[in-house]
Amino acid sequence: MDLHLQLGEGGLAEQIYAQLYERIGANVLPAGTVLPSSRELAERLSVSRATVVAAYERLAAHGLIRSRAGIGTVVTGQRGHASTEPPASLLQPRAIWSTEQLAVPDLTRPDAEFDFAPGVPARAQFPFARWRALLNDQLRTRTDVSYADPAGSAPLRTALARHLVVSRGVRIAPEQLVITTGAQQAFDIAARVLLEPGDTVAVEDPGYLPAYRGFVAHGAHVVGVPVDSEGLVVDQIPAGTRLVYVTPSHQFPLGMPMSDSRRTALLAWAARHDAAIVEDDYDSEFRFTGRPLTPLQAIDTEGRVLYVGSFSKTLLPALRVGFLGLPATLAEAARRAKFVADYGTGGHVQAALAAFIENGDLARYIRRMRGAYERRHHMLISTLREQFDGELEPIESSGGTHMAALLTRGQPPDTTLAARALAEGVHLGTVSRWGIEGPGPNGFVFGYGAIAADRIQAGLAALRRVI
Ligand SMILES: Cc1ncc(COP(=O)(O)O)c(C=O)c1O
Repeated sequence: MDLHLQLGEGGLAEQIYAQLYERIGANVLPAGTVLPSSRELAERLSVSRATVVAAYERLAAHGLIRSRAGIGTVVTGQRGHASTEPPASLLQPRAIWSTEQLAVPDLTRPDAEFDFAPGVPARAQFPFARWRALLNDQLRTRTDVSYADPAGSAPLRTALARHLVVSRGVRIAPEQLVITTGAQQAFDIAARVLLEPGDTVAVEDPGYLPAYRGFVAHGAHVVGVPVDSEGLVVDQIPAGTRLVYVTPSHQFPLGMPMSDSRRTALLAWAARHDAAIVEDDYDSEFRFTGRPLTPLQAIDTEGRVLYVGSFSKTLLPALRVGFLGLPATLAEAARRAKFVADYGTGGHVQAALAAFIENGDLARYIRRMRGAYERRHHMLISTLREQFDGELEPIESSGGTHMAALLTRGQPPDTTLAARALAEGVHLGTVSRWGIEGPGPNGFVFGYGAIAADRIQAGLAALRRVI
């Protein structure tokens, strides 16, 4: 064994003893480790053999090492004070990190026969072979393997800007885009760029808790504003609000789009109160009914909208790629904030994604999945109407990868029913957990990213057994 000991001035045996004692205690030399023979160690350290023998004898006296015939000197264990536990610390995080609001939710997924969990991607349909080929190309040919522009690669931002104007009517220059680690980092950067501690942020209630947490973590005063069938109730945004976070295409978690009049009202409100709007357009490309919904960003004439998108729904959450589109006045600050946060998103993934968009793979995949999601959505809503009439009221939505249905009055709490459903092999989300100021409405969130259309009826029949 190559045992490195550092010897300085003073008693050599004492130093050898102390260093071995400490390493055995810290489990750097665990039980069973064979130490060098006293002769070998003496030679290596240029000390007399008697010095090493003295140190070994002391360790043996403490029961830490033992001489074993045919093997040599062996570590036996850690007696007395020696411990593998890291030392206890008196340091504590800032109080905010101990609050329940910022707790990490349970991200494990039960292995259910019928998976209606929201946020689960269409693993079976994802073009893994194509993605692998594009990533491999990058790994094979890419010579630039160092740090790069923190705002994101130019080819990806250019491809994305083109894609956004075609698919969403979002007009944005590549220089106004920052590639982020998911939508989540886009919220974080928006907060870093715009918020002073204590600023008021308004979010939809019920609403997307990860965004809420992002603003809370910045020390903002975050207020839940009710939503109704037209989306955020603009009249109820508190005066003095600096930033409003909304999901206008597909309200999370309820699913309805924000009406045209509310969109206009929200932009007018922001103009009157000199506020910013963070528009989370997370799954809008999967729209299958009704008129196209123009993003707030596309009708904003004052540059008040920060547009957030994600590849978690269009591709996979595991990619952890999203983006933030900003008014030109904020773009450089956001680029700096991204640099401070993490120096930039991984270059290989960005390059593969740029190729995926440029080659038309993204548009093709979205088109294919739009059809698949439409069939699943249709099957879900028609079966819910037929089989759960009187117990569950589906909320109209025009797209996305999940829908919500509220339990009618007198039904048990959604969490109780969801636990019972899981026992029947059905995994689904609850609406109540997305409440901001208190529990949200009683109901279910049905994700249809993971469940095939022809499994939906059987899944809902299993759910029927508990409602
Ligand atoms: C409302 C909302 N915004 C954004 C996202 C995507 O977040 P991220 O890109 O951080 O995975 C999701 C995904 O579930 C979502 O539901």
